[in-house]
This record gives sequence, structure tokens and C-alpha cells, in this order.
Amino acid sequence: LFAGPVDFVKGVVAMSGLPPADRVEICFAGRSNVGKSSLINALTGRKNLARASNTPGRTQEINFFALGDSRYLVDLPGYGFAEAPVAVVAKWQALLKSYLAGRQTLRRAFVLIDTRHGIKKVDDEILTLLDKSAVTFQVVLTKADKVNRATREATIEQVKAALARHPAAYPEIVVTSSEKGEGLETLRALIAGLE
Ligand code: GTP
Ligand code: MG
Repeated sequence: LFAGPVDFVKGVVAMSGLPPADRVEICFAGRSNVGKSSLINALTGRKNLARASNTPGRTQEINFFALGDSRYLVDLPGYGFAEAPVAVVAKWQALLKSYLAGRQTLRRAFVLIDTRHGIKKVDDEILTLLDKSAVTFQVVLTKADKVNRATREATIEQVKAALARHPAAYPEIVVTSSEKGEGLETLRALIAGLE
């Protein structure tokens, strides 16, 4: 699946702009700057497919990437702190929540959590929204290259404890580094297995 074509389809700023709901969708959600766009690039092996940057709030639209002809990978705007005007941020946060709560073909949400920080209150709010919407989600720890063994284990324990309170959680936690390539094969296999 990942050896084949992957193409940018469109960037969406309103629910009315969503592409037809005719494929399996897998989205990447998470706080601003957690590494969503970088992970999509690493998974697909395209350096600049999704635009990544050091400025929180880089992705301001819902970006759809076609993976083969049966799946969309969906890069979402981040939540939490963003370096953009308040009114603008409010607009894209509302869009993000409408998408997560109301997209029929959304098969799985990967919720990215920085391995250095673990699950914060803003993350937990998103997880609760996914519970209510019955969207199965899975936690992907990012930037694992930045932490030592002890921090990594501590974060995994913190996440496990938090997931026990979320009925929509898929229990397997995937630890990744877009920089070093860790966890990418595991994620690719998960994505390929979603029908
Ligand atoms: P928004 O679109 O602003 O919500 O951010 P995002 O979640 O898409 O994050 P993005 O992929 O733009 O990455 C943010 C910063 O983290 C960039 O400077 C990346 O280079 C860096 N980064 C992402 N993944 C990794 C990783 O695995 N390891 C390291 N060391 N840095 C990473
Ligand atoms: Mg981004």
C-alpha cells in the first residue's frame, strides 16, 4: 500500500468542503506541534507532502491525502496553543471537532501525544469527544528520539492509565520517531489493516 502512489487531494476549511465519503479515512489528531504532519511525511516517505514546521499552528486546514484508491490519510490542525489569531484558531478548532464527531467514514483516529509530555487536559477533552462520537482512537507517542528510557516508560504508564477511562480507546500504544523511523512499520501495518 505504501509503495504505491500517495497524492494531496485538497485542504478543507469547512465541513461543506469535505471530499465524498467513499473511502476509509484515518486521521492524525493532536496538540499543535506534536508532529502530525511530520509523521504523515515519514510514513509515506515524502519529505514535504504535509507541511511541517517549528511554529505551532502550521496546519490550519483539514488536509486529505489519497493513499492508493481506497484510503485517505487526514492531517488535522492542532489543538491547544497555536501562533495564530484567536478568532482564526477558534474557527479551525470548531472545524476539527465537527470533523472528528461527524465523519461517517472515519475508521480510526490516531491521537498523537508527545512522549516527553504525556496526556494533558486538552488531549483528554478530545478523547472524550471521540468516545461520545464512537470513533475508535489509538494513541501514538511521538518524538521518542527526544527522551530516555525512563521517561518513555513513565509516559507509557501514564497513557495506559488514562486510556482505561476511555471506552473508544484501542489499547495498543505505538511509540514513534519520525526522525529515526521508529514505529513506522507498525503504523503502516495498522493502516493497511483497516477496511
Ligand atoms: P501543527 O500543524 O502546527 O499542529 O503541528 P504538527 O503536529 O503537524 O507538527 P509538525 O509535524 O509540523 O512538527 C512540529 C515540529 O516537531 C517540527 O519542527 C518537526 O521537525 C518536529 N518533529 C516532528 N516529529 C519529530 C520527531 O519524531 N523527532 C524530533 N526530534 N522532532 C520531530
Ligand atoms: Mg501540521
